[in-house]
Amino acid sequence: MRKPNFSSGPATLPEEVLRRAQEAIWDLDGSGIGILEHSHRGKEFGRVLDGAERAVRDVGNIGVDYAVLFVTAGATQHFAMVPQNFLSPNETADYCHTGVWSGKAIEEARRCGTVHVACTSEPAFDHVPERCSWSASPRYVHYTSNETIYGTQWVAPPRAPAPLVCDASSDIFSRPLPLENHALIYAGAQKNLGPSGISLVIARKDFVESGRSDLSPLNQYRTYVAEKSMHNTPNTFGIFIIGETCRWILAQGGLAAIDERNRRKAAVLYDFLDHSKHWKPHAQRGSRSLMNVTFRADTKEREEAFVKAAEAAGLSGLKGHRSVGGMRASLYNAFPEAGVKRLVELLAEHDK
Ligand SMILES: Cc1ncc(COP(=O)(O)O)c(C=O)c1O
Repeated sequence: MRKPNFSSGPATLPEEVLRRAQEAIWDLDGSGIGILEHSHRGKEFGRVLDGAERAVRDVGNIGVDYAVLFVTAGATQHFAMVPQNFLSPNETADYCHTGVWSGKAIEEARRCGTVHVACTSEPAFDHVPERCSWSASPRYVHYTSNETIYGTQWVAPPRAPAPLVCDASSDIFSRPLPLENHALIYAGAQKNLGPSGISLVIARKDFVESGRSDLSPLNQYRTYVAEKSMHNTPNTFGIFIIGETCRWILAQGGLAAIDERNRRKAAVLYDFLDHSKHWKPHAQRGSRSLMNVTFRADTKEREEAFVKAAEAAGLSGLKGHRSVGGMRASLYNAFPEAGVKRLVELLAEHDK
């Protein structure tokens, strides 16, 4: 029996996608060869790649001004690639600092140019700042739409005076995609899209063209645009799964329907926490993540007893990130509503 998996990533994927993957590993669409074994230059994989791009475009309502790229690396690669491509030593980029991941992105950007931290929610990282103070003419503005570790989320993108670059790793396609003003969105796939080790990039073509052209080809976004993400052998299986997951999203009714379900799921847990005697959510109202609900008990003993009970009850992956402790329930698109109800029932038993 499969367990409710609250892991922050790699994370729960839709059952339909996993069943389809099982079939395709053995035999892709009656070709007699499995998806892991097909040449990336063959027509069968060509159909998978085209289909995945089409499904991503359909889900995100992404027009021709934007390229859809599959990059063989996690989101961390883009912490470095974004400034390498778009930030020169004499330029400034503005970064919104809302947690561990933006911190890592800032560190990488500082290798290439000047970073202006336009806003920060340090040290508690329990909210998304209401106001930012922008530098005079930033090359771009970077933000993390959902902070996976602290459990905060931007309700709407920052209103910035420069093109937005967004790390959407942990909430991509969990709600309608706010493409407006965005030059580049990147997301590691292992939360809402597919396996780890591959990322989806949605980038405005003119922005990509404005980047440096003296980097090695695999470090330039323009190479992925020019060569359809096939400069070298891509992660064919990852692309297959991303395509299937996007088709699953469309079958659920698209991002509006997914968003509604995600809101409902998170509300069940936040509502319990807001009325609880011994448990409290970490994130402030107005900044709470619908994807990663972080919470703590009033004593360490209560948390430890709960973690033990959760494991015994078959609820997996509830321990908070090692850097912050406490609990974290990741409720990505494919996480079932019934799993949240089971969690709340168990929490209620540990709230006496
Ligand atoms: C918001 C965010 N950005 C970046 C990363 C890093 O992703 P990866 O480990 O795929 O490089 C993560 C990791 O889970 C994340 O949650």
